[in-house]
Amino acid sequence: MKYELTSHTWGDEEIESIQDVIKSGRFTMNGKVKEFEEEFARHFGVKYAAMVNSGSSANLIAVASLFYKKEKPLERGDEVIVPCVSWATTYHPLQQYGLKLKFVDVDLKTLNFDMEELRKAVTRKTKMIVAVSILGNPCKFDEIIEICEKNGILLFEDNCESMGARFNGRYTGTFGFVNTFSTFYSHHISTMEGGLVLTDDKEMYNLFKAVRNHGWVRDQDEDSPIFKRQADDFFEAYRFILPGYNVRPTEIQGALGLKQLDKLDKFVEIRRENALHFRKLFTGDERFILQQETGESSWFCFTMILNPEAKLDRKKVLLKLKEAGIEHRIITGGCFLRHDVIKYYDYVCAKSTNADIVHDNGFFVGNFSYDIKDKIEYLHEVLKTI
Ligand SMILES: Cc1ncc(COP(=O)(O)O)c(C=O)c1O
Repeated sequence: MKYELTSHTWGDEEIESIQDVIKSGRFTMNGKVKEFEEEFARHFGVKYAAMVNSGSSANLIAVASLFYKKEKPLERGDEVIVPCVSWATTYHPLQQYGLKLKFVDVDLKTLNFDMEELRKAVTRKTKMIVAVSILGNPCKFDEIIEICEKNGILLFEDNCESMGARFNGRYTGTFGFVNTFSTFYSHHISTMEGGLVLTDDKEMYNLFKAVRNHGWVRDQDEDSPIFKRQADDFFEAYRFILPGYNVRPTEIQGALGLKQLDKLDKFVEIRRENALHFRKLFTGDERFILQQETGESSWFCFTMILNPEAKLDRKKVLLKLKEAGIEHRIITGGCFLRHDVIKYYDYVCAKSTNADIVHDNGFFVGNFSYDIKDKIEYLHEVLKTI
């Protein structure tokens, strides 16, 4: 049996939705994207959603917009707290906008912020915390929000790995002032490539729309708070107000998003059933440290960290998995501080002990939006003999 790392989430409806867009002859960002944004915002109970071409672009336009908002929540040189384990493009926009990063170690069980370390890291200089719910598992948002409120710190949620997860009944990706999502292939829902930013702030929403679209006024709200419309239609049609990008999605991505969003709850339900089976088989096995759920995870995958006390050789374990046809990979990007690109960053880090263990001893195997209990049992059989 083969146990793949990823699987796609499309049925016939998605293929038909692509054909419909092609037949319409209208490919660039238009009605389908708008409809998907409105549905997405409604689904998560947030006022505004802006779609872009990836989760990375969602992070980029969210960070950029925080620099352009009138009261300047962020300025170059500001200190931002980030976890040691996340994806590269959680961090890159922060570096590109001249922010100083303070890396905080992760908890070995949840793989999210070590909360004690997070508390220690906060100073009067801290302007923003970037909370990343790793691989479906919600951060401890009650504690993080308390820290933010007490210290006047902005909360940015990179929820690109955790669509459909909940903390205290509330969806992750709705706790931050800005919240980002990815709809890349293999994520909870897929538009091939794609991403979204959610916010309740109208000014931020209009900034997102300008920054994603050349810094142009083209798709601004009638009553946009970020500029004053002028009488001269000729100039107004091609007026630029911000140093933006072109990170727009296509209509195909919008149409796919609409079909996929309808299925999200069911997908997450099945992922959670698979997780129950995984945990039934592996809980209590002292050789592995498994990801411990906070709230309701949407279980992107199943992480396994070789317990340093078990003294297992990861190379040998991974070879065994490879020979058995079980695909696997590093947990997210491992410890970001271990990557060459860190030389370009202005950063401090007091401790990364657990992130290093994740990096050196961890791996993950796939979880999908269909029943894979047989694959999980196969994994269990293969790992019995190590
Ligand atoms: C935490 C996190 N942020 C951002 C991204 C970027 O998303 P995308 O691949 O859609 O650019 C990812 C990708 O998986 C991610 O895991």
